Amino acid sequence: MQNIKHLLQHIGKNQIRNLVNLSLGRPLRMSNARSMTLDWDDVKVAKEWLSKPSCWEDGTVVSEYETEFARWNGSKYAFAFMAARVGLSACIYALDLQPGDEVILPAYTCVVVPNALKWAGVKTVYCDIELDTYGLDVTQIESKITPKTRAILLQHLYGVVCRDYQAILDLAKRHGLKVIEDCAHSTGAEYKGRKVGNFGDVAIYSSEKTKIFSTIQGGVAVTNDDQLGKRLKEYSDQTPYPDAALIERQLNNIPLEFYQFKHPQSWWLGDAYYLLHGGQVIFTTSNQEKQGIRPDKYGRKMPAAIAALGLNQLKKIDYYIKCRRQNSKIWELWCQDNGYKKPVVIDESVPSYLLYPVLVEPEIKQQVTWWGFKNFNVSVIDWFTSHIYLSPEKVTGCKNADIAVKQCINFPTLNQMCSFSSS
Ligand SMILES: Cc1ncc(COP(=O)(O)O)c(C=O)c1O
Repeated sequence: MQNIKHLLQHIGKNQIRNLVNLSLGRPLRMSNARSMTLDWDDVKVAKEWLSKPSCWEDGTVVSEYETEFARWNGSKYAFAFMAARVGLSACIYALDLQPGDEVILPAYTCVVVPNALKWAGVKTVYCDIELDTYGLDVTQIESKITPKTRAILLQHLYGVVCRDYQAILDLAKRHGLKVIEDCAHSTGAEYKGRKVGNFGDVAIYSSEKTKIFSTIQGGVAVTNDDQLGKRLKEYSDQTPYPDAALIERQLNNIPLEFYQFKHPQSWWLGDAYYLLHGGQVIFTTSNQEKQGIRPDKYGRKMPAAIAALGLNQLKKIDYYIKCRRQNSKIWELWCQDNGYKKPVVIDESVPSYLLYPVLVEPEIKQQVTWWGFKNFNVSVIDWFTSHIYLSPEKVTGCKNADIAVKQCINFPTLNQMCSFSSS
């Protein structure tokens, strides 16, 4: 009953928006921030794999994906998991972080990041961010270092290369600390001619449905160090595949997302498909995770059926990143014309612009969906609405993170018009 009410509310809202658009003579389709890299070819891959469940655990396809990701990313080793957060757990294992060790991380992140550390018994030490790129502020890090500090987790948020990248790498080296790079948002961003994630000791990337490329859920951990590569492999070898029901559900989510957000007639077909299959939608972060509780089926590695989708996405990822970079120019101009500060692009870096982050007045952020719809007919979002997003955990003493929470909004960088063609 609750489900039907939810489905009808969702559809009702969409159709009211469509009526408003029609009456104002605007296009019905709205640019979204989700699953915009899914096309017909991905639906075809999902359908093909749905028909052969006996191959879902075929390790050769997974190895092929890992090898291809490593090649594309310019990394020596890559291991695929069911989420970047699981990749982070693998990195924690690879670095041999022990209970009681401390890791410094930004006070503006997603709950799944500290969760992975806490579940390994590692103490999370939050540090303030800068507001140029929303990364760790290097000037704040030194005071957080104690004899127990083992690593710094730096983050390239929203596809922008963090401002203090080199300075953090240098500081970590001076103090003998390991560097974990969270590239969940920034797959494909570059620094000094190499993809981000290749400068620290280990790094994670996400192919969750709101990210640079989508397998609905998925993540990769990489390293260029032989010893760490061995440890990541050890973790991967010990990790089970998800059960068949989850793999099937994930494959079914490909057409579900495609029809809702990318199909040329998504304005009505998406709702029709959602009415029939909306109960299948995968929510990436469970209520348990939001409360900091480790779910039973948390740590899983990527099975062949999902790796096949990843391989298909990798064929198109450069095209989509190019589109994101081009589209970000629209928002850059908007910032320029309207007196808002653009995210800083540091020297020798090329962002991949998962989204285009801008600090606006808190009142705009509070009604950002309506504001984006009214002004641009796109879905502008306010992603991180708390310091440790999706968690009730409070962080104090981080002034810039407070500002980002209240004022940062995100413009979409892909829309339905961006469609991949192999020709
Ligand atoms: C900053 C950051 N790091 C890591 C992750 C984890 O990615 P995944 O959903 O693939 O576990 C997220 C998820 O949104 C994130 O926002």
